[in-house]
Amino acid sequence: MTKTLTTTLLGIALIALTNGAFAADEAGKKTYDQACAACHANGIAGSPKTGDLVAWAPRVAKGIDTLYASAINGKGAMPAKGGQTAIPDTDIKAAVDYMVTISSKL
Ligand code: HEC
Repeated sequence: MTKTLTTTLLGIALIALTNGAFAADEAGKKTYDQACAACHANGIAGSPKTGDLVAWAPRVAKGIDTLYASAINGKGAMPAKGGQTAIPDTDIKAAVDYMVTISSKL
């Protein structure tokens, strides 16, 4: 009986976790498609191409907070927020998470 209950609770926790991650991915992908893909989908202007593990590895190594700051404030040829300054910081962070997730083995 206890075992069944534990298994059920674990199942519910897992579903809750998966749903949360899915929602974050969706928001990140939306912002990415809207503001980031123009450069990052094809490595335009010297940007690290999305999905290119080698190009992203040294950037990911700097830590996620550095990457958030670069995306929000701009870096090199990348304008702040990819040029779309009306996008809230939280959405930019979600887009960074989305890009990093598919561009690294993390
Ligand atoms: C106009 C083209 C362009 C757009 C649009 C763009 N980027 Fe970039 N991005 C770049 C370039 C170029 C670099 C490399 C900058 C450098 O290291 O000098 C870069 C680098 C980055 C990095 C790595 C920063 C670091 O510290 O190494 C992240 C993270 C990033 N972009 C996220 C985003 C996000 C998120 C968006 C959308 C909101 C976005 N970019 C939109 C051109 C772009």
